[in-house]
Amino acid sequence: MRAIQLEQPKSFRLIDIPEPTDPGPGEAIVRVHRIGICGTDISGYLGKMPFYSYPRIPGHELGVEVVAIGDGVTNVAVGDTCSVEPYINNPNSFASQRGRPNCCEDLQVLGVHTDGGMRKLFTLPARKLHKASSLSMEQLALVETLAIGCHAVYRSAPQPGENVLVIGAGPIGLSVIEFVKLSGANLIVMDMVESRLQFCRETMGVTHTVTFVGDGSEEKTLRELTGGNLPTIVIDATGNAKSMSNALNYVGHTGKLVFVGITTDNVTFPHPLMHRREMTLLASRNALPDDFDRIIDLIQTGKIDTQPWITHRVGFDDLPGQFPSYTKPETGVIKAIVAVE
Ligand SMILES: NC(=O)c1ccc[n+]([C@@H]2O[C@H](COP(=O)([O-])OP(=O)(O)OC[C@H]3O[C@@H](n4cnc5c(N)ncnc54)[C@H](O)[C@@H]3O)[C@@H](O)[C@H]2O)c1
Ligand SMILES: [Zn+2]
Repeated sequence: MRAIQLEQPKSFRLIDIPEPTDPGPGEAIVRVHRIGICGTDISGYLGKMPFYSYPRIPGHELGVEVVAIGDGVTNVAVGDTCSVEPYINNPNSFASQRGRPNCCEDLQVLGVHTDGGMRKLFTLPARKLHKASSLSMEQLALVETLAIGCHAVYRSAPQPGENVLVIGAGPIGLSVIEFVKLSGANLIVMDMVESRLQFCRETMGVTHTVTFVGDGSEEKTLRELTGGNLPTIVIDATGNAKSMSNALNYVGHTGKLVFVGITTDNVTFPHPLMHRREMTLLASRNALPDDFDRIIDLIQTGKIDTQPWITHRVGFDDLPGQFPSYTKPETGVIKAIVAVE
């Protein structure tokens, strides 16, 4: 069967690999129908992802169908359609035992640390499948992206009416926005790219946007929008170390700052800024198993509209040719979805 392999940065190739057979105890074989492309895939392609190793079959945002199950599998049956939680954890690890498999010490993310779903069939632990018969395969492939935002918002626990600032309106910021909206908090979105803010206003129903220009005027605007107190939750989804450092300026007294964006650079800040306000700094990595089931329910019940998310569609064989265009901002990709026929 065919698979798409990232042989090395900027070099995809179509390869032929054997079909999986005979799932072991606790395992399932799935047929991949749809694959979402995200910033992680783009960073892997560009050679900018520190945890990525090559050659690698990418693909971690997946809509799949179960075609075989091994002994002891009870959560799914053959024919079920599912979203995949691509964070393969060691259930015995310290973090997993503490109910935090998303940041397991031995974590293997499909399509990043281990081969992912850009192939017709593959085997995975069945416990990583989240069944959802009423979602389309495209919707199933969107669940993981939404889960990142869901977890970041869960980490900060906004209350209705609380002022929340989301910095960075890329796909991860947009997924954060979905869950801030659901929390009933007052949402403000900041980005330096006007077209991204326009998308938030026109398509995501965001009322308050602030353009980051870097002249200090942003803090004044944020004070005006928050009755002088600044937001008590700031979620930085830029992955930009300067923005992450600067974000401390926007957190009000007693507030929380969540880093959902990822950088390999040092993030530095004047400590008094944090101390005076008795700020809480939180990381948000991946998502929890329950997030997947919650999102499936929210899509099923129409509380999350997946319509605006998919901006590009591509066939499996055409992906290597199309992929370079997804790395260019002018292509305007929010989410490209690969169809595996
Ligand atoms: N927490 C996780 O588990 C997880 C999972 C996936 C991705 N990520 C990370 O989330 C981050 C965002 O991913 P994405 O795909 O949305 O990226 P993206 O590059 O598409 O979006 C980032 C946005 O931030 C904006 N931005 C950059 N610097 C800014 C600044 N100084 N002020 C205001 N806006 C600024 C950009 O204009 C852009 O719109 C990345 O670092 C990615 O690695 C985290
Ligand atoms: Zn992703």
